[in-house]
Amino acid sequence: MEVVICGSGEEIGRHVADVYEAVLRGPAPVIGLATGSSPLVAYQELIRRHREDGLSFAGATAFLLDEYVGLPLSHPESYAAVIRRELTDHVDIDPARVFSPDGTAADLAAECARYDAAIAAAGGVHVQLLGIGTDGHVGFNEPMSSLTSRTRPKTLTRQTREDNARFFDSVDEVPTHVLTQGLGTISSARHLVLVATGSAKAEAIAAAVEGPLSARCPASILQWHRHATVFVDEAAASRLE
Ligand code: F6R
Repeated sequence: MEVVICGSGEEIGRHVADVYEAVLRGPAPVIGLATGSSPLVAYQELIRRHREDGLSFAGATAFLLDEYVGLPLSHPESYAAVIRRELTDHVDIDPARVFSPDGTAADLAAECARYDAAIAAAGGVHVQLLGIGTDGHVGFNEPMSSLTSRTRPKTLTRQTREDNARFFDSVDEVPTHVLTQGLGTISSARHLVLVATGSAKAEAIAAAVEGPLSARCPASILQWHRHATVFVDEAAASRLE
């Protein structure tokens, strides 16, 4: 695992965009996307490169990490809507090739199996972007998630719902359940790129990078991945030894 301490969020965005650009310039790129605040600087840089430098997403397929259960796709905070607003509506990717688990499916277990099969059928993910929760989650694999798990329904912890309440009118409106790629699904991506900024993430980053490989800190799976890169700012790196 490589840890890169950057001077600003914008520098992180440029590094992540470099990784994605290299994949996008290759054959049949399959990109893994995350939502939340952490990826936004990278998405803004990718949009800038699309507009100003001609970086094309035309041949790309994209898979999201996760989705809330019970929010219709039209809800502004559904992750399918968020990724359109933050990235895919602003580049030339085919909207029909942007996939997310359907949190409104009648049979959630079947939907999760279908989603894993779709990732496999696309040939697997070349690069997967990850944020990290204050409790060490990646995707929505909360602490004690199985290290080999595949896409499945999960219950959010109170902490995560409070962390995400800023996107809703109140914490009570944050859905209690999600569909998330499992830690095994995420680990199948060829390259994992985790980004974190701010002191609120410092403890989780220290546990992920220097703590034991353990389900207590799901992000610690990056330690056994053959190609993992962590981009952090000084504040998020502040608890590293
Ligand atoms: C979102 C996701 C989550 C977030 C994490 C950090 O798709 O999978 O794991 O990456 O909760 O969220 P932010 O970046 O908003 O702090």
